Amino acid sequence: MTSEHFKMWESRFAGEDYVFGTAPNALLASCRDVLPKQGRALAIADGEGRNGVFLAECGLSVLSVDFSPAAQAKAHKLAAARGVTIETATADLMQWQWPGGFDVVAGIFFQFLTPEQRPRIFKNIRDALKPGGLLLIEGYRPKQLVYKTGGPSQVENLYTRELLEEAFGDFDNLSIREHDSEVAEGVGHAGISALIDLIGWKPK
Ligand SMILES: C[S@@+](CC[C@H](N)C(=O)[O-])C[C@H]1O[C@@H](n2cnc3c(N)ncnc32)[C@H](O)[C@@H]1O
Repeated sequence: MTSEHFKMWESRFAGEDYVFGTAPNALLASCRDVLPKQGRALAIADGEGRNGVFLAECGLSVLSVDFSPAAQAKAHKLAAARGVTIETATADLMQWQWPGGFDVVAGIFFQFLTPEQRPRIFKNIRDALKPGGLLLIEGYRPKQLVYKTGGPSQVENLYTRELLEEAFGDFDNLSIREHDSEVAEGVGHAGISALIDLIGWKPK
């Protein structure tokens, strides 16, 4: 990743406010009942920690990875305010030595990856999950470029059903849902949005 990309995120996270809010992402919150009651969760590109902290509140032992130290300081602050702890790894996902053995991987809005970078990261995600582990992904669809209420402006970084099926089509009980929904996640994601959600379990 370029240093401009890193600086852009560091400056976005520099203020006191939580850019994407402190409430968990709606997909994640809706999956509370299918989360395992204990085990290890990896929250990728977890930013200021709203999702990692939620997973910890659900009883999971959480590793929250992001390349922004400013965001991770806020993630620890949020965890403390909620009475839980999370572990953080400060790393560029493209360079990271991904650990394995996770019961859950949550990838909520990490569409900074180009089509060339994405297959490697999607493979890393698959490998990080235990057999039977739960994968949760939410991202924007190309139609989001009409709404412009969050997310990257490069259409090739956005997800289609076919793209997610190609990567994770063999997952058990796979659900891929395309929907246009109102999002209120801080100032970063606000308004009607073209979303795509994936829920599935890595084959045993
Ligand atoms: C749209 S934000 C989403 C944050 C969080 N998942 C959430 O939903 O609140 C994208 C996140 O990706 C992180 N990020 C961007 N490029 C990255 C990279 N190469 N490696 C690790 N994290 C990165 C940013 O710091 C930011 O926290």
